[in-house]
Amino acid sequence: MDERRGRLTRDGIRIHDAADFDGMRRAGAVAAAILDDIAPHVEVGQTTGEIDRLITGMVKDVGAVSATIGYKGYRHASCISVNHVVCHGIPGDKKLKDGDILNIDVTVIVDGWYGDTSRMYVAGSVGRKAERLIQVTHDALMKGIEAARPGNTFGDIGAAIQTHVEGERMSVVRDFCGHGLGRVFHAPPNVLHYGRPGTGPVLEEGMFFTIEPMVNLGRPETKVLGDDWTAVTRDKSLSAQFEHSVGITSDGAEIFTLSPAGLFHPTWA
Ligand code: MF3
Ligand code: CO
Ligand code: CO
Repeated sequence: MDERRGRLTRDGIRIHDAADFDGMRRAGAVAAAILDDIAPHVEVGQTTGEIDRLITGMVKDVGAVSATIGYKGYRHASCISVNHVVCHGIPGDKKLKDGDILNIDVTVIVDGWYGDTSRMYVAGSVGRKAERLIQVTHDALMKGIEAARPGNTFGDIGAAIQTHVEGERMSVVRDFCGHGLGRVFHAPPNVLHYGRPGTGPVLEEGMFFTIEPMVNLGRPETKVLGDDWTAVTRDKSLSAQFEHSVGITSDGAEIFTLSPAGLFHPTWA
């Protein structure tokens, strides 16, 4: 396949064709099915390392390739971000405790196309504040997707997310953003989860990108730990994230990473 097919906008955003949508549908469905299949394995006492090993097996079994193993030196098939970890949590030996909330983020490559998605899970029973945080984060993502249509701007997406989150007295993380993707993992533009309506590049049919808001119960500031990956809230407050990969259609956005089992949210009973 020719990497250079299609055109780039003045902002360097690739415009894809109908066959490309097909590739993204297949990659997105594989990533989403893995997040469905991992749900029963998120339990009190389970380690995030074991969850990642299971995901590694699922990626192989379906004939896909992990986009994260070997990416900038990362060594795992998922990022698993527990409680006050904002994103890029490294799977390890720590056991999940009752009431822990966690984001599992999986990116696969299928026939060269990238499917990138994440959801929230709970070990045991979820606390009231955590449940509200997760709900607000999910709804913020969906409001961002509703704003994703030709003629709107990336600022409209960010503003829709920020307005919802701040209206619930929570905060949007500024230090990480969504991204263009397709036959590459991270491409222009940076998809900010905050902003002003009418600002930023105009959305066009054929653009592919992720929307992946991170929302904190406390302040928005983050810091990266000494492992150079794990991002945490500076004030130790709980953080949540959801991510979909989408493509802009003639009149809206197609979600490539919808859950085949209808388990995007909630992932628990
Ligand atoms: N999946 C993440 C994203 O949404 C990127 C993870 S990169 C890794 O963009 F190396 F940390 F896995
Ligand atoms: Co992403
Ligand atoms: Co991701």
